[in-house]
Amino acid sequence: MAIERTLILCKPDAVSRGLVGDIVTRFERRGYVISAMKLMQLDGERAREHYGEHKDKPFFGDLVGFITSGPLVAMAVEGENAVDGCRQIIGATNPLSAAPGSIRGDLAQTIGRNLVHGSDSKASADRELKIFFDDKDFASRRHDLERWIKD
Ligand code: RTP
Ligand code: MG
Repeated sequence: MAIERTLILCKPDAVSRGLVGDIVTRFERRGYVISAMKLMQLDGERAREHYGEHKDKPFFGDLVGFITSGPLVAMAVEGENAVDGCRQIIGATNPLSAAPGSIRGDLAQTIGRNLVHGSDSKASADRELKIFFDDKDFASRRHDLERWIKD
Protein backbone atom coordinates (compact mmCIF):
# COMPACT_ATOMS: atom_id res chain seq x y z
CA MET A 1 0.00 0.00 0.00
CA ALA A 2 1.17 3.55 -0.76
CA ILE A 3 -0.19 5.31 2.30
CA GLU A 4 0.45 9.05 2.10
CA ARG A 5 -0.25 11.96 4.44
CA THR A 6 -1.30 15.30 2.94
CA LEU A 7 -2.22 18.75 4.24
CA ILE A 8 -5.79 19.94 3.73
CA LEU A 9 -6.90 23.43 4.74
CA CYS A 10 -10.50 24.56 5.03
CA LYS A 11 -9.71 28.17 4.17
CA PRO A 12 -11.32 31.14 6.00
CA ASP A 13 -14.20 31.27 3.48
CA ALA A 14 -15.08 27.64 4.31
CA VAL A 15 -15.07 28.35 8.05
CA SER A 16 -17.03 31.57 7.62
CA ARG A 17 -19.66 29.87 5.43
CA GLY A 18 -20.11 26.97 7.85
CA LEU A 19 -18.91 24.39 5.31
CA VAL A 20 -16.24 22.64 7.38
CA GLY A 21 -18.49 19.68 8.18
CA ASP A 22 -19.46 19.17 4.53
CA ILE A 23 -15.82 19.34 3.45
CA VAL A 24 -14.54 16.95 6.14
CA THR A 25 -17.29 14.48 5.27
CA ARG A 26 -16.18 14.28 1.65
CA PHE A 27 -12.68 13.10 2.61
CA GLU A 28 -14.01 10.67 5.23
CA ARG A 29 -16.57 9.15 2.87
CA ARG A 30 -13.78 8.37 0.41
CA GLY A 31 -12.18 6.36 3.20
CA TYR A 32 -9.37 8.76 4.07
CA VAL A 33 -8.68 9.34 7.75
CA ILE A 34 -7.83 12.49 9.66
CA SER A 35 -4.73 12.10 11.80
CA ALA A 36 -4.41 15.72 12.99
CA MET A 37 -6.79 18.67 13.00
CA LYS A 38 -6.84 22.22 14.38
CA LEU A 39 -8.76 25.48 14.09
CA MET A 40 -6.26 28.32 13.98
CA GLN A 41 -5.51 31.79 12.70
CA LEU A 42 -2.45 31.80 10.44
CA ASP A 43 0.05 34.64 10.87
CA GLY A 44 1.62 36.43 7.89
CA GLU A 45 5.01 34.82 8.28
CA ARG A 46 3.64 31.29 8.16
CA ALA A 47 1.24 32.19 5.33
CA ARG A 48 4.14 33.49 3.20
CA GLU A 49 6.09 30.32 3.96
CA HIS A 50 3.13 28.09 3.09
CA TYR A 51 2.51 29.85 -0.26
CA GLY A 52 6.23 30.53 -0.93
CA GLU A 53 6.07 29.00 -4.42
CA HIS A 54 3.74 31.87 -5.43
CA LYS A 55 5.79 34.73 -3.95
CA ASP A 56 6.49 36.35 -7.34
CA LYS A 57 2.90 36.05 -8.63
CA PRO A 58 0.68 39.14 -8.88
CA PHE A 59 -1.94 37.56 -6.62
CA PHE A 60 0.51 36.71 -3.79
CA GLY A 61 -0.46 39.69 -1.60
CA ASP A 62 -4.18 38.96 -1.91
CA LEU A 63 -3.57 35.26 -1.25
CA VAL A 64 -1.65 35.92 1.97
CA GLY A 65 -4.18 38.57 3.00
CA PHE A 66 -7.06 36.17 2.51
CA ILE A 67 -5.56 33.09 4.15
CA THR A 68 -4.76 35.21 7.26
CA SER A 69 -8.13 37.01 7.28
CA GLY A 70 -9.90 34.66 9.68
CA PRO A 71 -9.69 31.23 11.26
CA LEU A 72 -9.00 28.19 9.10
CA VAL A 73 -9.11 24.48 9.83
CA ALA A 74 -5.91 22.56 9.10
CA MET A 75 -6.03 18.78 8.73
CA ALA A 76 -3.60 15.99 8.04
CA VAL A 77 -5.40 13.45 5.87
CA GLU A 78 -4.08 9.94 5.24
CA GLY A 79 -4.86 7.18 2.80
CA GLU A 80 -3.79 5.34 -0.33
CA ASN A 81 -2.24 7.91 -2.69
CA ALA A 82 -3.88 10.58 -0.54
CA VAL A 83 -2.08 13.52 -2.19
CA ASP A 84 -3.61 12.98 -5.64
CA GLY A 85 -6.85 11.53 -4.28
CA CYS A 86 -7.54 14.57 -2.13
CA ARG A 87 -6.75 16.93 -5.04
CA GLN A 88 -9.37 15.01 -7.02
CA ILE A 89 -11.95 15.52 -4.29
CA ILE A 90 -11.07 19.25 -4.12
CA GLY A 91 -11.29 19.87 -7.89
CA ALA A 92 -9.58 22.32 -10.24
CA THR A 93 -8.17 25.60 -8.88
CA ASN A 94 -10.76 27.70 -10.72
CA PRO A 95 -14.24 26.54 -9.60
CA LEU A 96 -15.56 27.22 -13.10
CA SER A 97 -13.32 24.39 -14.34
CA ALA A 98 -13.89 22.13 -11.35
CA ALA A 99 -16.01 19.04 -11.96
CA PRO A 100 -19.45 18.87 -10.37
CA GLY A 101 -19.09 16.51 -7.42
CA SER A 102 -15.80 18.08 -6.36
CA ILE A 103 -15.72 20.51 -3.43
CA ARG A 104 -14.93 23.52 -5.61
CA GLY A 105 -17.28 22.36 -8.38
CA ASP A 106 -20.16 22.05 -5.94
CA LEU A 107 -19.57 24.83 -3.45
CA ALA A 108 -17.33 27.61 -4.84
CA GLN A 109 -17.63 30.33 -7.47
CA THR A 110 -14.29 32.15 -7.78
CA ILE A 111 -10.59 31.27 -7.83
CA GLY A 112 -9.82 33.65 -4.98
CA ARG A 113 -12.42 32.04 -2.68
CA ASN A 114 -12.05 28.38 -3.55
CA LEU A 115 -12.57 27.05 -0.02
CA VAL A 116 -9.88 24.39 0.28
CA HIS A 117 -6.15 23.83 -0.06
CA GLY A 118 -4.58 20.46 -0.76
CA SER A 119 -0.84 19.76 -1.10
CA ASP A 120 0.14 19.24 -4.75
CA SER A 121 2.88 16.60 -4.25
CA LYS A 122 4.33 14.33 -1.59
CA ALA A 123 7.28 16.75 -1.17
CA SER A 124 4.90 19.72 -0.76
CA ALA A 125 2.83 17.75 1.75
CA ASP A 126 5.90 16.95 3.88
CA ARG A 127 7.02 20.60 3.79
CA GLU A 128 3.58 22.09 4.45
CA LEU A 129 2.56 19.70 7.25
CA LYS A 130 5.55 20.94 9.28
CA ILE A 131 4.24 24.52 9.04
CA PHE A 132 0.96 23.55 10.70
CA PHE A 133 1.71 20.57 12.94
CA ASP A 134 4.30 19.18 15.36
CA ASP A 135 5.02 15.45 15.56
CA LYS A 136 3.04 15.24 18.81
CA ASP A 137 -0.13 16.49 17.07
CA PHE A 138 -0.60 13.27 15.07
CA ALA A 139 -2.75 10.33 16.13
CA SER A 140 -2.03 6.90 14.71
CA ARG A 141 -4.81 5.87 12.29
CA ARG A 142 -2.90 2.98 10.77
CA HIS A 143 -5.33 0.32 12.06
CA ASP A 144 -8.35 2.16 10.63
CA LEU A 145 -6.67 2.45 7.25
CA GLU A 146 -5.62 -1.19 7.17
CA ARG A 147 -9.16 -2.29 8.01
CA TRP A 148 -10.80 -0.31 5.24
CA ILE A 149 -8.45 -0.48 2.28
CA LYS A 150 -6.95 -3.42 0.47
CA ASP A 151 -4.69 -3.66 -2.60
P1 RTP B 1 -4.20 25.57 -3.24
O1 RTP B 1 -2.69 25.68 -3.25
O2 RTP B 1 -4.86 26.67 -2.46
O3 RTP B 1 -4.65 24.19 -2.88
O4 RTP B 1 -4.75 25.77 -4.73
P2 RTP B 1 -4.19 25.10 -6.05
O5 RTP B 1 -3.02 24.21 -5.75
O6 RTP B 1 -5.36 24.51 -6.75
O7 RTP B 1 -3.70 26.37 -6.84
P3 RTP B 1 -2.30 27.13 -6.78
O8 RTP B 1 -1.82 27.29 -8.18
O9 RTP B 1 -1.39 26.51 -5.78
O10 RTP B 1 -2.75 28.56 -6.26
C1 RTP B 1 -2.90 28.83 -4.89
C2 RTP B 1 -4.12 29.68 -4.69
O11 RTP B 1 -3.86 30.97 -5.25
C3 RTP B 1 -5.06 31.50 -5.78
N1 RTP B 1 -4.85 31.81 -7.17
N2 RTP B 1 -5.27 32.91 -7.73
N3 RTP B 1 -5.83 34.98 -9.57
C4 RTP B 1 -5.20 33.90 -9.98
O12 RTP B 1 -4.87 33.74 -11.15
C5 RTP B 1 -4.91 32.86 -9.02
N4 RTP B 1 -4.25 31.75 -9.27
C6 RTP B 1 -4.21 31.08 -8.09
C7 RTP B 1 -6.13 30.46 -5.63
O13 RTP B 1 -6.94 30.80 -4.49
C8 RTP B 1 -5.37 29.19 -5.39
O14 RTP B 1 -6.10 28.27 -4.61
MG1 MG C 1 -1.38 24.85 -4.62
